Formats: sequence, structure tokens, C-alpha cells
Amino acid sequence: MQNSGSLFGWLITIGLFLTLLNFPVKVVYKAAIARLPRESKEKKIYTLLQKQIVTHHRFFALFTTVMLVAHVLIQLMYRWFSWTGLAAAILMVINGFLGGYGHYIKKKKRSAWFTAHRIVAVLLIIAILVHLVTNGR
Ligand code: HEM
Ligand code: HEM
Repeated sequence: MQNSGSLFGWLITIGLFLTLLNFPVKVVYKAAIARLPRESKEKKIYTLLQKQIVTHHRFFALFTTVMLVAHVLIQLMYRWFSWTGLAAAILMVINGFLGGYGHYIKKKKRSAWFTAHRIVAVLLIIAILVHLVTNGR
């Protein structure tokens, strides 16, 4: 049971990786794929993959949050309470609400929420790295 805490920590990390893929996938599209001819096979496949990643962004985030809850419960039962973990968890929940606001209320129209959503994502990555280098303290 003790190892399952570790398992969920890494499942959060995988979920977050998929959630964050949104960004690099679009950067690569703009830098390299957009200029390919419409009929190009590479472009078709890439566009299909990108669509999956972008439309499932919120579900990857939801999966990550569920794994986070499991991680927290297990660590609290078998390990200890972690301030760095709490900081990361708070940032993740805030970003979930920001994303939900942008998606459902602002209908994906970019405004301040989007800038905030990106900044909080960067802070979240930093918080997780701190959580990891301090071994969950
Ligand atoms: C976004 C939030 C979080 C992420 C991505 C995350 C991720 C991880 C990862 C990958 C590990 C290393 C694997 C392991 O040893 O378990 C870990 C360890 C740990 N986490 Fe988290 N965690 C988060 C939030 C939290 C929270 C809120 C707590 C507070 C209860 C917590 C408590 C711990 C503890 C105590 C460990 C060390 C376990 C050990 O060394 O035996 N984490 N976390
Ligand atoms: C762990 C939580 C989350 C993180 C770390 C996160 C991270 C990000 C990042 C880095 C971007 C920027 C992508 C870019 O620059 O193109 C983004 C875009 C976006 N996010 Fe999130 N996000 C999270 C949760 C959510 C949730 C729960 C929703 C919706 C319910 C959401 C909706 C959006 C929308 C609508 C965009 C704008 C463009 C698009 O559709 O790709 N996010 N997110």
C-alpha cells in the first residue's frame, strides 16, 4: 500500500504531462506544420493528433485531479503532510477553475483568464519540481 502513494504521484505527473502537451503541440504546429500543403499526409495526421490533445485537455486535467486526491489521501495516511505538495495542489485546483471559467463561461475566447491560466501552469510546474527535490517535504 505504501508504494501506491508513489504510483499516484507519478500518475499525477503523467496526467499533467498530457494536460500540458496542449502548449508544445501548438508551438510545433505554428513553427513547422502550418506551412505544409493542405494535402500533405504529415499535416493531416498531425492535425488529427493535435485535435485529440486539445479537445481532451480538460479531461486530462480532470484525470490528474482525481489522481491528486488519491495521492494526497495515501500520503496523509502512510507518510506525512507536505507543504510543497499543498502549494502544488492549490495551484492545480486554481488552474482547473481558471480553465473551466475560460472554457465554459468565456467560451474559449482568450482574455485575462488565459494569461492567468498560463502563468499558474508555470508556477505549478515549479511547485511540483520543488515538491520532488525536497522528497515530498
Ligand atoms: C500537484 C500536486 C502534487 C504532485 C504532482 C505530487 C507528486 C509527487 C510525486 C511524483 C512524488 C514522488 C513519488 C513518491 O515518493 O510518492 C511525491 C511524493 C510525496 N508527496 Fe506529492 N504530489 C502532489 C501533492 C501532494 C500533496 C498535496 C501532499 C500532501 C499530503 C503530498 C505528499 C507527498 C509526500 C508525503 C511524498 C513523499 C512520499 C515518500 O517519500 O514516501 N503531495 N509527490
Ligand atoms: C491542471 C490543470 C490545468 C493545467 C495545468 C492547464 C494548462 C494549460 C496550458 C499550459 C494552456 C496553454 C496552451 C496554449 O498556450 O496554447 C492551457 C490552455 C487552455 N486550457 Fe488548460 N489547464 C488545466 C486545466 C484546464 C481545465 C480543467 C479546462 C477546462 C475545463 C481548461 C481549459 C483550457 C482552455 C479552453 C485553453 C485554451 C485553448 C485550448 O482550448 O487549448 N484547462 N491550459
